[in-house]
Order: sequence, then C-alpha cells, then structure tokens
Amino acid sequence: MNILLIGNGGREHAIAWKIADSQRLTKLWIAPGNAGTEAFGENLNGLVIEDPDAVVQTASQLAIDLVIIGPEGPLGLGVADRLRDEGFSVFGPNARAAEIETSKTFANDLMSKYGVDTADSKTFDSYEDAKSYVTDLDGPCVVKANGLAAGKGVTVCDSSAQAVKAINESMQLRNFGAAGDKIVIEERMYGWETSAHAFTDGITVRHMPFSCDHKPVFDNNVGPNTGGMGVYSPPPQLESEIQDVIETQITETLVKALGAENRVYQGVIYPGIMLTDSGPRVVEVNARFGDPETEVLLPRLETDFIDIAVGVATSTLKDVEIKWSNQSTIGVMLTSAGYPGHYEVGHQIYGLGDIDPNIQVFISGANRDSNGHMITTGGRVLCVTGSATTLEEARSLVYENIERITFKGAHFRKDIGSSITKPE
Ligand code: AMP
Ligand code: GLY
Repeated sequence: MNILLIGNGGREHAIAWKIADSQRLTKLWIAPGNAGTEAFGENLNGLVIEDPDAVVQTASQLAIDLVIIGPEGPLGLGVADRLRDEGFSVFGPNARAAEIETSKTFANDLMSKYGVDTADSKTFDSYEDAKSYVTDLDGPCVVKANGLAAGKGVTVCDSSAQAVKAINESMQLRNFGAAGDKIVIEERMYGWETSAHAFTDGITVRHMPFSCDHKPVFDNNVGPNTGGMGVYSPPPQLESEIQDVIETQITETLVKALGAENRVYQGVIYPGIMLTDSGPRVVEVNARFGDPETEVLLPRLETDFIDIAVGVATSTLKDVEIKWSNQSTIGVMLTSAGYPGHYEVGHQIYGLGDIDPNIQVFISGANRDSNGHMITTGGRVLCVTGSATTLEEARSLVYENIERITFKGAHFRKDIGSSITKPE
C-alpha cells in the first residue's frame, strides 16, 4: 500500500517506525516529516498539511491508498473530511467528530448530555464576566483556552488572583491567539492522571494499554505545563476494575455519543483521565494519539499497524485482533532550553550514535542541515524510549542512554516513572 502520514513530531516518527515493519507497505510519504521519519520514507517538506485541497491533490498524485493523520490541527480544519469526500481511506476523524478536542465547550456539553463524569465548567467570551466569576468563586479553578493551544492553554489555579491573571493572558494579551478569545473555567479536580487511548471505526472500540504522561516541565511536577515531558506504560497502580470503568463508561460512551450526534468517529480517541477520590473523571478528550504516549504505546504493539489503520478507515475494525506485549516501556523527552516558553533552536545534537541498539530515539523537533548534522528545531527535541520486563529496568535503561545525548541547553526530567503511586 502507498501510505501518506501527516505530521512532524515524535508521534509521527513512532508511527513511521511501526509502519515500516509491515509487509503491506509499498511506499511511505510523510508530510512534512522530520529527521526521524526520513529513515522510513520520503518527507514532503513543502506540503501545507493545514490545506485540505493541497493534501487531496498530493494524495491523488501519489496514488495514496491510506492517509494517516497524526496531529489535531489538520483534523480540526477538515483535512479528513475532504479526503473522504474524494474517496480516500483515512485514519483520523472528520472535523465535526474532532470537535471533541478542538472545542472544549462542545466536549463538555456532550459529556454532560451523555453522563460522562468531568469537571463542572462555564464558558465565557467576555473578559469582565470571566473575571467577576472567578473573583466571586474565591478559590481554586482551572482556566482553559476554548480552542487549540498546543497543550499550553491550560492554567491550574490555586486562587482567584491567579485565575484573573490567566484570564487576562488569554483574553486581553491574547497569548493563544483566537483560541483563547473564548475561555472555559472549570472546577479544579484532584488526583493522578492516566491517558486512555482506543482505536475506533465508530462502532468497534479496541482499547490500547493505559499510559501516564508528565506534563509540567520540571521534576516533582513543578513549572508550567508542556505537551508532555515523559511517559510510561502500563501504570502498575491502575486497578483492572477502574480500567474497566474508564473503558466502558468513558471511552465507549463517548464513541456512542458521537455516533448518536451524527459525528461518527474513525481514528484514535484519547480521553485524559484524573483518578479522583470519587472515581475516574475526564480532564480532556483528544482526537488523536498522544505525544509522547505514542512513543511508548507503539513499541508495545505486536499487531501490524496497517491492519489496524485499514480496519479503522474502512469500518472493519471488528475483524482485527490487536495484541500488545506485556513489557514496561518508558519514554523521556529531551527539550530545548526555555521550553515551553521562548526556546532556542539551531543547536547540533551529539551522541545519537552511542545509543544501545534496544533503545529507540524518536525525533520530535530536529532536522538535518546540509552537512547531514542533526540540528534542533523545536521545543521538544527527541524522546528516548526503552522497554524491559519491569518499569524499574526500563527506567534505568532509558536514563543511562539519555545521558549520552547532548546539545546546548538540553533539559529532561529525572523523575519520569519514579513516583508511580501518585504521578501527579
Ligand atoms: P489539558 O490540556 O486539558 O489536558 O490540561 C493540561 C493539564 O492541566 C492536565 O493534564 C491536568 O494536569 C491539568 N488540568 C486540566 N483540567 C483540569 C481540572 N479540571 N482539574 C485539575 N487539573 C486539570
Ligand atoms: N501527551 C499529551 C497530549 O498528547 O495531549
């Protein structure tokens, strides 16, 4: 099969790496791709992946049999819709279904209608109203940009003063652009978090193993939230009864709810869950694979990824058996100095040749220069991933190896997977 993979992060490197194992692959193109994906196919640096017409045109020219869409941006802009309209098989939801991620207001309304437990929330498009609401609240809350903000549009607040500052940054200073003109103010929940991923064709739901991301930039969950600093799977502290509750009462209910609302969902659905004293509650729902979750989930996948993707895209997922290894896997992100704020790029990366053969390095933000040197281009630069029989062994392997990779200002958290009883 000819496959077009859309995206340029560690997630897409991991997908390309997995697809390359498949007997069914004829040729892979990655748009725009990065220095990691180019080992498995041809990068299409010039394709504007937010432009549905351009993607359709390229897919036609290359006689693509299956398009896999990684990031939420193109999903929200209707790239999957246009491709489906033209008869392409697509892994990734249409824009109306992807609203489960692209509009927090839509997601909250849907969950409230179908009885999925999430934080109480209120939406505001007036700065003054939002400000007086949190002032009256006089306590902890969470301020979220309503639209997409690359994982950075959320401020967890202890006090109303902090909330007023966050509202100001979103609505007056417009730090997240148009995505933050409307905001959602949520009840603050307490607990630890896990990522629940599933493949679905809108009817059949195949759950993936659970994983735990670490969002804050510094050890012990200090500092601002990032797209994710490191992840492990499976979380040994997650009891199987709770897993069942999440899978049936949250993920499957969401897929049915979207179908009932005429927003049939084909792709990966990923609810972020908080395990609270009153049970699992939804923090947010994503319309795609998590990053860095993908970098630990796909090394554990034993089934041909193309079989699954075709099952999702052609509504035949019920015929696909999916197997996972019971290894423990950890991924730790190496990031640029300053991330998630303003960060430096353009630094050469050293030590990639010194990595053990059983360790994967997934590239998130790096490209090769004209001399073939690997150069940083993003805030999150790469994810070092390793697997072993126990989480502890996997952890030691990854930390031994990550020390060998250097670039100016490189930062990583030292505590990924170390406080597994209460990761958040
Ligand atoms: P999100 O981008 O919505 O996943 O939010 C980023 C992070 O903010 C989450 O992973 C949580 O750690 C935190 N967060 C979001 N919403 C809430 C909430 N209602 N209560 C407590 N923490 C939250
Ligand atoms: N790991 C968080 C995300 O992908 O949203």
